[in-house]
Amino acid sequence: MRASSHHKLAALSLICAKLFGVVSADTSSLYNQNAGKADNIRSAMLASIRTSWEQGTAAGGILEWNDSEYSVFGSSPFASNGKFPLDTLQLAYSAAVRQTSDGRLSQNIGDALDGAALDGASAGSAVLLGSFADTDTSRSSYWLNAAQAELNYILNVAPRTSTGAISHRADSRQYWADGVYMGFPFIAYYGAVTNNATLLQIAYDQCRLYRDALLLDGPTGPLWGHIYSDDTMSWIDSGLWGSGNAWAATGMLRVAVTIQKTSHYADMKSQVSNLTSWVKEILDGEFAALTSDNLVPDYLVGGPNFGDASSSAALASVAYRVAKLYPNQFGSNYTTAAGNIASAVLGGITDLGALSPVVDPLQWSQVGLLSTEAQAFALMMLSAMRDYLGK
Ligand SMILES: *[C@@H]1O[C@H](CO)[C@@H](O)[C@H](O)[C@H]1NC(C)=O
Ligand SMILES: *[C@@H]1O[C@H](CO)[C@@H](O)[C@H](O)[C@H]1NC(C)=O
Ligand SMILES: *[C@@H]1O[C@H](CO)[C@@H](O)[C@H](O)[C@H]1NC(C)=O
Ligand SMILES: *[C@@H]1O[C@H](CO)[C@@H](O)[C@H](O)[C@H]1NC(C)=O
Repeated sequence: MRASSHHKLAALSLICAKLFGVVSADTSSLYNQNAGKADNIRSAMLASIRTSWEQGTAAGGILEWNDSEYSVFGSSPFASNGKFPLDTLQLAYSAAVRQTSDGRLSQNIGDALDGAALDGASAGSAVLLGSFADTDTSRSSYWLNAAQAELNYILNVAPRTSTGAISHRADSRQYWADGVYMGFPFIAYYGAVTNNATLLQIAYDQCRLYRDALLLDGPTGPLWGHIYSDDTMSWIDSGLWGSGNAWAATGMLRVAVTIQKTSHYADMKSQVSNLTSWVKEILDGEFAALTSDNLVPDYLVGGPNFGDASSSAALASVAYRVAKLYPNQFGSNYTTAAGNIASAVLGGITDLGALSPVVDPLQWSQVGLLSTEAQAFALMMLSAMRDYLGK
């Protein structure tokens, strides 16, 4: 090829890059134009009635948005830096006050009949944070005891499947993709805060066992089915649910980053690299299946495929995080896709601050009006964009 065609080609690709850059919405201007929406996204979340997993996920969103230095993506995740994480601890406090005697956090609502084994643990990290970051040290043991009781429940009381996985349900043996966010980041976090490598390994193993049980072949590559019963050895929901895959990816990413920030990382590189490759598997499968409105479909297989801003926000948050943390593994196509998704999600926020359209968190095949987890995912997405941009 002659030099002049090289130049023409270079010029052409520059024009293309600019065109595509515009189409995919530049992350910086997207963030600047929309960060102000966080106030209403956040207040709609805090105004909503919350069940156990919603309380924990809300605390996770607030942690990343308002007390970001203490999140596992932040600068001081396992020790106090002197700042009082008020917003996060307010949510953690209610989770601990509503803990049942078996150790599950956020359970004492609706006659304490919550059948989930792992959902309460979603507030576990925020509660454990109180044990060292609460500036009123007279509460340290209150936080630590609450976190310890939750850890004891999931490790020693919750039923186990035939492979040793912790059941997502309290009175049967079931794998739910949701459990990967609910339970395993807390186990890893507890391991990091107490310098316990056994717990870090347990958190990894639980992710691995859940993936082994739930991974299916989909039209765009392997993705996770939603619910499998180990009691009947059959699927309860074999659908490739966007939110289920989002829970799995957000959970595994947090476990990976937590392990990586401890001194045990030197001995656990293989665990971390497996986790990030499993996160990649989910992003690749879901991002290849976006709807025409640039959202993740509610179900890719096995249910309706309307665009769902909830799983979309969660997976866009994951893409921005991995692009920043693992740039060699995740090229610019991840942030291009994340930018398109984020633009669609942020463009759909209503005047009540609610993400729309979203899957109904209680009826997985229906569009809902308000999803607490979607609100939290949007805060996680804005936090990930802010960190990606180095703001
Ligand atoms: C928490 O986030 C809200 C919404 O963006 C913001 O108005 C508030 O100032 C933040 N508070 C802190 C302590 O960062
Ligand atoms: C680590 O945690 C496990 C599970 O809670 C516990 O059995 C073990 O004693 C802990 N190890 C250390 C060194 O604290
Ligand atoms: C990581 O995954 C590879 C491939 O499946 C497996 O051989 C290896 O044992 C895994 N590492 C750990 C620590 O589980
Ligand atoms: C990004 O590009 C790589 C390399 O071509 C490909 O393997 C991967 O599936 C792509 N992922 C996404 C989300 O576009």
